[in-house]
Amino acid sequence: MNKLRVGIIGGGRIGKVHAQSITNLVPNATIVAIADPFMNENLEKWAKDKGINETYKDPYDIINHKDIDAVLICSPTDTHTQLIQAAAKAKKHIFCEKPVDTDLKRIDETMKVVRENNVLFQIGFNRRFDHNHSAVRDAVLENKVGDVHVIKVTSRDPEPPSPEYVKVSGGIFLDMMIHDFDMVRYLSNSEVKEVYATGAVLIDPEIGKAGDVDTAMVMLTMENGALAIIDNSRQAVYGYDQRTEVFGSKGCAKVENDRKSLIEVSTKDSVESQKPLYFFLDRYIDSYANEIIDFINSVQNGAEIKCGIEDAIRPVEIALAASKSLKEHRPVLISEVALSK
Ligand SMILES: NC(=O)c1ccc[n+]([C@@H]2O[C@H](COP(=O)([O-])OP(=O)(O)OC[C@H]3O[C@@H](n4cnc5c(N)ncnc54)[C@H](O)[C@@H]3O)[C@@H](O)[C@H]2O)c1
Repeated sequence: MNKLRVGIIGGGRIGKVHAQSITNLVPNATIVAIADPFMNENLEKWAKDKGINETYKDPYDIINHKDIDAVLICSPTDTHTQLIQAAAKAKKHIFCEKPVDTDLKRIDETMKVVRENNVLFQIGFNRRFDHNHSAVRDAVLENKVGDVHVIKVTSRDPEPPSPEYVKVSGGIFLDMMIHDFDMVRYLSNSEVKEVYATGAVLIDPEIGKAGDVDTAMVMLTMENGALAIIDNSRQAVYGYDQRTEVFGSKGCAKVENDRKSLIEVSTKDSVESQKPLYFFLDRYIDSYANEIIDFINSVQNGAEIKCGIEDAIRPVEIALAASKSLKEHRPVLISEVALSK
């Protein structure tokens, strides 16, 4: 089989992670080129070391490249929709980082272009490809927990981002909790109907001045009747706290944090175990590889895309409903913000 020829747009944190996954783990794909407007000697050297021979400043050199079959869009969120539309028109298959955008109208127009051009599209909700969370989902699908009653997601970062980042991030719901909104849909196998959000600035007043909260809780009512709760904090002093639980009529499935080792030392004074892995690049590194392997398998072998167009749109609707709920101090129906009411 011919190798899939990939181009990467954006050579920052996540672009490098995906490039590394392909280079190290995917023998049936090759990275032809990487583009970044801030391409410099360091990034060029990094690319050459990874066996990527072509480097560009202009992302359109990737999009219009005749020897590229699929693009990975790993640039900042506000560049995604324009690049997706151009890539789809150039008949490239597309993997795009989350969130696809923060504006539902722009997302809708963009997804229309993707459909019209009949290219594959995957959105980067990597936690679906994590060994723990996917095991909880499997338990739900295998009916081990019965009818789903409660979904709980705890998601806390070890350290807050800078206020400058917060200002351009779209806020905690679109930037951080968006992963958890996806998780709730994924674990419950249902859609969100109503959202009730509350939030506070408890960690860094500068985050408040930047117009965001650093601590948030959201209660969700699902279309299948289940209830969900998500809690986010921008600072958990013990590390990246990532736990999920689904409780239902027949039982409960839950996962605790991943640790470097599972050792627990018990003495007369205490019971000690390892802290959670520090942050997302430690905790979720395998899931980033798994999602890219899956995308490449879909393009090459026609396997179903596991995280596609609907999965790109719904969490943004939920995030916008959560922002509205926080602002207006009331539960908000998804139908109040969704384009298709
Ligand atoms: N799935 C996840 O867990 C996860 C984790 C981190 C980031 N992300 C997402 O990935 C995207 C990038 O985040 P990051 O943390 O890698 O950011 P980053 O700032 O580290 O990297 C972004 C790169 O894109 C480049 N860039 C800027 N404008 C560009 C353009 N028009 N075309 C091409 N490249 C451009 C920048 O120079 C930079 O090198 C964001 O959408 C973010 O939300 C997802």
